[in-house]
Amino acid sequence: MSDADRTALVTGAGRGLGLAFATELLARGYRVLAAARKPEGSEGLAALGAAHGERLVPLALDVGDPRSVAAGAAAAGEHTNALHLLVNNAGINSRSVPEGQGNVRLGSLEPEGFLAMMRVNALGPALVTQALLPLLAAGGGRVVNISSWLGSIAGKTAGGNYGYAASKAALNMVGRAMAFDLAEQGVVSVQINPGWVQTDMGGQRAKLTPEESVKGILDVAERLTPDDAGHFLQWDGTPHEW
Ligand SMILES: NC(=O)c1ccc[n+]([C@@H]2O[C@H](COP(=O)([O-])OP(=O)(O)OC[C@H]3O[C@@H](n4cnc5c(N)ncnc54)[C@H](OP(=O)(O)O)[C@@H]3O)[C@@H](O)[C@H]2O)c1
Repeated sequence: MSDADRTALVTGAGRGLGLAFATELLARGYRVLAAARKPEGSEGLAALGAAHGERLVPLALDVGDPRSVAAGAAAAGEHTNALHLLVNNAGINSRSVPEGQGNVRLGSLEPEGFLAMMRVNALGPALVTQALLPLLAAGGGRVVNISSWLGSIAGKTAGGNYGYAASKAALNMVGRAMAFDLAEQGVVSVQINPGWVQTDMGGQRAKLTPEESVKGILDVAERLTPDDAGHFLQWDGTPHEW
């Protein structure tokens, strides 16, 4: 397969790690379907479109809305008949939910913030992957679910942050289950912790630039084999504790 034949879809591609994935994938020769809630509002995607023309395809896709997922997947099918890589990157943390419903201790837990993070971070990747299954199967694709060290049960050594931590732990289980179903279609799927990265979510004190993290993750994605299916990995490909 030549580089020009490879097509990738990235969710949450308008900013942060998602925009860095789109940028690096274009540099690696992929055609990129850049899915975002409001792609037209992203200055980063506009700049990529100006530089790369039709190799960058903006798509409207809200991973928390099943109708938007279906419409986004249908739009993806109008632009390609095979996907070689899906990056389930879109995610929210406690700062994206109403004040006082995010990183709280027991005693202050409210359902809505918790459920919002479960919906976007755990259910969203399952619905997106399901909707894109025919395209992924046609491409013998790879699926990378962007998890977090905060989703590691073994690594949880303090209270609080219920919604985000549980949603990423749930994503790890969703990814593990999907890996078996996807293997039957010739698709390899893994969960990857991107590390602490300088984005709106990670903040500027974070250790990694988005470029460092996505280059590591894409190097891992490009050398995945069926033996890796379902694994939880660090951004550099080393194993992550569950
Ligand atoms: N940065 C870190 O240190 C770090 C560490 C561990 C894990 N992660 C994970 O890495 C991924 C990317 O995070 P980031 O650091 O780039 O965060 P970010 O800067 O806050 O960006 C989040 C991205 O997700 C998108 N998004 C949120 N809700 C969405 C929805 N319902 N549908 C579609 N897109 C949605 C946002 O789009 P809008 O512009 O529309 O809001 C944005 O593009 C997330 O899954 C996050 O949990 C990040």
